[in-house]
Amino acid sequence: MSNSAAADPAPDHAGQVGPIIAAHRDRPGAMLPILHAIQRHLGWVPGAAVPLIANALNCSRAEVQGVLDFYHDFRRAPPGRHVLQLCRAESCQALGGLALEAHARAVLGLDYYQTSADGALTLEPVYCLGNCACSPAVRVDDEILGRVDQERFDALIAGLRGVGATA
Ligand code: FES
Repeated sequence: MSNSAAADPAPDHAGQVGPIIAAHRDRPGAMLPILHAIQRHLGWVPGAAVPLIANALNCSRAEVQGVLDFYHDFRRAPPGRHVLQLCRAESCQALGGLALEAHARAVLGLDYYQTSADGALTLEPVYCLGNCACSPAVRVDDEILGRVDQERFDALIAGLRGVGATA
């Protein structure tokens, strides 16, 4: 499994982020919009983007890296084919989220921000999916699910395995 931002597997990402930076660089407070736009486009923020953003915004690489590190929502490595997010906010915690979280980690053998060895699944925490009335809530890729107990979670993972995800 991997959760590190090791060497960029595709250095040509620099060519992809350049136009994104150019499109947002003149906005007020451009750094966050640039980082969000890169992650929307690639699914993560490659290290190659850091010096390019620093040059465009006339700031240091350390400043860009600091923002990137501060916000955990920015991925520093490519995600798996499926991203599974568990809600850790109050309502979900109060209604079984902690037990679900422990179950998920044990079943998947993953901690947060880790990706399974086959690249199929990335596990991430999230803080409220806006689905509190149906806690505990989980997001799989773009789909938000509610009232996810351990049995439903296992069925969900089995379904993902059925389309190529093995955790
Ligand atoms: S607290 Fe989990 S969806 Fe709101």
